[in-house]
Amino acid sequence: MKAIQLHGSHVLVGESVQNIQKYLPKSQVVIITESNICKYYSELCNAYPTVEIEGGEPHKTLATIDYIASQLIDLKVDRKTFILGIGGGIVCDITGFIASIFMRGCPFGFISTTLLSQVDASVGGKNGVNYQGFKNMLGVFAQPQFVICDPQSFSTLPQKEFTAGFSEIVKAAMITSAALLSFIEKNAEKALQKDGHTLEHLVYESVKIKADIVSRDERENGVRRKLNLGHTFAHAIEKNSTLMHGEAVSIGLCLASQVALNLGMMKKEEVERVKNILKKLQLPTATGIPLKTLFSAMLKDKKKSGDKLHLILPKGIGSCEICEVSLSQLEKMVADLK
Ligand SMILES: NC(=O)c1ccc[n+]([C@@H]2O[C@H](COP(=O)([O-])OP(=O)(O)OC[C@H]3O[C@@H](n4cnc5c(N)ncnc54)[C@H](O)[C@@H]3O)[C@@H](O)[C@H]2O)c1
Ligand SMILES: [Zn+2]
Repeated sequence: MKAIQLHGSHVLVGESVQNIQKYLPKSQVVIITESNICKYYSELCNAYPTVEIEGGEPHKTLATIDYIASQLIDLKVDRKTFILGIGGGIVCDITGFIASIFMRGCPFGFISTTLLSQVDASVGGKNGVNYQGFKNMLGVFAQPQFVICDPQSFSTLPQKEFTAGFSEIVKAAMITSAALLSFIEKNAEKALQKDGHTLEHLVYESVKIKADIVSRDERENGVRRKLNLGHTFAHAIEKNSTLMHGEAVSIGLCLASQVALNLGMMKKEEVERVKNILKKLQLPTATGIPLKTLFSAMLKDKKKSGDKLHLILPKGIGSCEICEVSLSQLEKMVADLK
């Protein structure tokens, strides 16, 4: 097991869920999880009062927060109660949000159960829900006391959900680590076969990259924006398709790379290399969504300012920059590439 510290939060990579008692306080504990996930953690869910919610992005809403709040009142939760979220990015985002606002804040922690949540969603202190079609529009910055990243969790994870998580690992590598990208390239098969050592290494390296960036800019005023590499495209793709977040991020990374190529920030062979790695990881690299639809959704993204978009673009492999690009510029570039 390897621990990474981030603003008082302990991310425990390779820790077994069996050791959870080491981290739980003596005070009251309440679990928040999905009905779908509860069955895999029945021992814990039987031992503590558990609030079960419906899974999926359509349920990441204020209505779910409302439901949980009423359950917490029934359970007589007070500010000393420890709230434990067990699940993927959706449960973690929701748990962190309700725990932070219920009675102005209860301590909380996560058992992070998807690859995507271990490498990204459960780390960094961003919690929230979607609102009126805008992703993560309502939320808070608050750090969990701990995040347990047990590779055993992946044994029950559907294959498609599992592979979706690799896009965030590739993203982390593209932001700061050419070495991590080479490791992924060499070990893609082992990773897809859920080899424990390979996955622990990938999760640890990705969390280290994210923790390093967040420790320098917790509130996303500068360098943290780099973690949004590929995401302005991805959010627009998610809105216009049934693709999962991780799949949309994979396509977003390819589109960001294509724009970077057009601006002379990436070489053609580097773009091809990124695409090939994503393909090796069984991730999509293109979308049939018309560019017009994609761009109009991008304009509605909350990260825009005027008709300019702040895009994070790769600069070679293992580095990226925050660039301001106008929509018309972007339209021309991507059209040229078609
Ligand atoms: N807060 C952040 O910084 C941040 C960063 C990245 C993504 N996110 C958010 O994370 C969410 C996506 O997270 P996700 O990909 O983990 O999706 P998810 O939470 O919906 O989980 C995916 C599916 O896997 C199931 N599942 C989870 N763990 C399981 C297990 N161990 N065994 C079997 N099934 C299991 C869930 O029930 C769900 O159906 C998005 O809402 C995204 O916005 C947040
Ligand atoms: Zn993401």
